[in-house]
Amino acid sequence: METREAILTRQSIRVYNANEPDDEQIKAILEAAVRSPSGGNAQPWAFISIRNARRLQAIKAVSPGMIGTPTAAIVICLDRKRIGSSGESASMPMVWMSLGAAMQNILLAAHDNGLGACAIGSFHNQSVASLLNLPDDVQPVLIISIGYPLRIPKQSSRRPNQQIAFMEKFETETGAENG
Ligand SMILES: Cc1cc2nc3c(=O)[nH]c(=O)nc-3n(C[C@H](O)[C@H](O)[C@H](O)COP(=O)(O)O)c2cc1C
Repeated sequence: METREAILTRQSIRVYNANEPDDEQIKAILEAAVRSPSGGNAQPWAFISIRNARRLQAIKAVSPGMIGTPTAAIVICLDRKRIGSSGESASMPMVWMSLGAAMQNILLAAHDNGLGACAIGSFHNQSVASLLNLPDDVQPVLIISIGYPLRIPKQSSRRPNQQIAFMEKFETETGAENG
């Protein structure tokens, strides 16, 4: 799939059929995750792929944001050991952006591999950490549910370009430039 097509046709897929992704698909998605950019190339993450049906079910049970029943998931974790010693608060925005870049790579790679995926931020952190046996300095940040789409939903809307995309200078909605 062309990059442009992948970006423009990706959408959150929340409901899946029972077919399972194969090893190659999961490998390709993890490869995309690992290649994500990160501030200072700190790679402040760990990616845990899950395909075991019972573990997926246990994760779903503590994830109110998970609507369907995925046949795979990747949990994006923050590895606090990778955060600069110069001060956590200063480096955290970079860390969150890096994890966001990994999220998008995973979502696009799933789509490119014929799968549907959805980021899930609504879950009980401690329960997921315990289900995945995470050490204290590794915390789950986002779950990406993955599977074959049961159906393709209508694409979600976006704010109009004139409110959010500008050439050269910010403009108010009336068209007046701001400064
Ligand atoms: C950080 C983040 C957290 C999200 N958490 C959830 C969630 O808990 N449950 C859910 O169904 N969708 C979740 N989503 C998906 C968004 O609702 C979705 O991306 C948005 O509505 C735009 O739709 P689209 O992805 O189809 O373009 C999350 C997305 C992001 C980026």
